[in-house]
Order: sequence, then C-alpha cells, then structure tokens
Amino acid sequence: MSMKILLVIASTRPGRVGPAVADWFRRSTEPTVAELDLTIEVADLAEVGLPFLDEPEHPSTGIYQHEHTRAWSRQVEAADALVFVTSEYNFAMPATLKNAFDYLSREWAWKPCLFVGYGNTSAGSRGVQMARGVATSLRMLSIGGDVYLRLADDLVDGEVIDTDRRTNHAQRALEQLTRAAEVMRPLRGEDRQIVPATPRDVAELVVLQRACWVDEAIVNQMLDLPALHESATDVEAGLSDWSTWVIRSGGRLIGSVRAKREGDDWLIGRLMVAPDQRHQGLGQRLLAHAETRAPEGVTAATLFTGARSTANQKMYQRAGYHLSTDEAPPGAVTLRKPLS
Ligand SMILES: Cc1cc2nc3c(=O)[nH]c(=O)nc-3n(C[C@H](O)[C@H](O)[C@H](O)COP(=O)(O)O)c2cc1C
Repeated sequence: MSMKILLVIASTRPGRVGPAVADWFRRSTEPTVAELDLTIEVADLAEVGLPFLDEPEHPSTGIYQHEHTRAWSRQVEAADALVFVTSEYNFAMPATLKNAFDYLSREWAWKPCLFVGYGNTSAGSRGVQMARGVATSLRMLSIGGDVYLRLADDLVDGEVIDTDRRTNHAQRALEQLTRAAEVMRPLRGEDRQIVPATPRDVAELVVLQRACWVDEAIVNQMLDLPALHESATDVEAGLSDWSTWVIRSGGRLIGSVRAKREGDDWLIGRLMVAPDQRHQGLGQRLLAHAETRAPEGVTAATLFTGARSTANQKMYQRAGYHLSTDEAPPGAVTLRKPLS
C-alpha cells in the first residue's frame, strides 16, 4: 500500500530559505519516491496559516471549533510519516512549528518522523533537538539519521548545493522513514481507524444500530425509531444519501456515524458505538471525525437525539453543541454547534 509522507516547512518569514531546502529534499529523493511508490504532500506552514493556538479544548479530545484546525487535522491524520524541514531560531525550533505541533494530538501518534535542519554554526541541530523532544512527547518516533545543512557551506544563492553524498543521505533517510512507517502500521491502530463505510458493512450496521437504539427506545419510551426498524436495503440506501464512516476492531464493526449537507447545515446522525465498547472516547472520535469532514461553506453542525436521552445530550454539550429550538422529529430534540 502506498505510503503518504507529509513534508512540513516550518519557517514562514518573508525571504525564508525553507522552501528551497524542501525543494532540494524533494528533488534528491525523487528516485526513492518512485521506487517505493510514495506520495509526498507538502504542508508549508506559511500557507497552512494557523493562528496562535485558539482552540478551547485540549487537542486530545479531537473537539475542534475552527476550520483551520480541522483542515490541519485532516492533513496530518492522512500522513503515514512526517518530514520536518526546519530552521533554527535562537537555539530552538521556530515558534510556528511548535504551534503547529500543539494544535493536534492523536493525529501525530505512532508516526515516524525525519528532520531536515539548517542554520548557521549548528546547522540547525539545536532546533531539531528541541523539536525531536516535542515530537516524542506526541508519540512520534524520531528515526534519527537526520539531514543537516550549514547555510555558509551547503547553500549558495539560497539554493542547496547538490552533492552525491548529500543526495544519498536524503534518499537513505527517506527509505528508513518509510520502513519505520510500515512496521508501525499496527501501532497506528489501522485496526481502529475511522474509514468510509462500504456496502460490505451493511449487515453489521443493521445489527449495530438495532443494538444501540434499543437503549434509546427504553429511555425515551417509544419504539417508533427508524434506526430500530430499518432493513438492510434501507441502510444500504442510506450509504448513497449520506457520507458514512465506520470503525472496526479485530475485524468487528464497533462504531459508525454519518453526515450530509442540508443547506448551510452539516447534518450528523446515527452516531453509534457498540455497547461493550463505550467509555473509551470512540463516540467523541467519530463525532469529531464527522465534523472535520464538513464541506466548506457550512456554518453549523446539527443533530437530533431523544428528548429523554440525557446522557447523549450531555455528551453533545461537552462537544460544543447546544440545545436549539429548531424543529426535531417527534420525541427528539435538536442540538447545534457553529462550525466556522
Ligand atoms: C529570529 C532568528 C533567529 C536565528 N537564530 C539562529 C540560531 O540560533 N542558530 C542558527 O544557526 N541560526 C539562526 N538564525 C539564522 C537562520 O538559521 C537563518 O536566517 C535561516 O535562513 C533561517 O531559516 P529561514 O530562512 O527558513 O527562516 C536565526 C535567524 C532568525 C531570523
């Protein structure tokens, strides 16, 4: 399976050297990328444009209020491994890189990373050393074998001087990064990855939604709940009308959520976690995942839950939703959360 490498350019100042160093790394490693069937995506922090961390919740909750955070979360989550191209400012990593690290949590976890540092006397190594500590605390694995460039010796007119030795080093480092990403796959819990639902999931979705909505029927004292009665054909039809995601563990489908656009709203529904898998944060992860998939232009997420489902309502309120007076199906209430 093709590995996705995210190459992060840390410096953002006008006239910076960062993009030229990143270009050199990309050029030098083209044969490795082709040979190992890698995909390299560049995240230039100058373009990512994150303000200083402005999220009210701790990143480990995955509850993000702002579209810039959700976009950054999607970009990092999609990566199997990271390459950080970073300068050194005052014996440290640039504040932009630290800020970009701080925005997220689980998105970084169990991914190997490589540093391409540059600077004056230290060739950026003190900045890298600091960034490595932060990366480790975020559960990334710094594989070592980093690339260092001294501005006075290794660059001329803002361009990295190509040498065979340096090119080989970059290629070997990328190869090792890929190898580490491969063996770390199980740690990344691809097993518990949230992925789009397919028609093959229908039978288990039917069973799971019945298991989950029995509780709702009891709490709300009503049996007229579509999720309890839908056939496999209904559930399959839902896959065409909604974007649906599922999560599996050990091959078993243990959670799901779906969403679709309605005007300016991102309607989220069918959030379900198998009864024996609750209280591990899976519901929050699924909800946050659905929110991050909101298309551009929607202004709020909307969902319905039973009027007497107080536990659900509390969970949604913790995730930033508030009760709304908007119309809801019989026996239900509407909850809304602004998405900017
Ligand atoms: C605010 C600031 C602090 C710097 N501190 C260091 C430093 O501690 N060590 C070093 O080797 N170079 C330092 N430099 C020089 C940078 O390595 C050099 O300017 C490099 O081009 C910065 O990367 P950039 O062009 O991508 O921003 C510093 C530069 C700036 C702008």
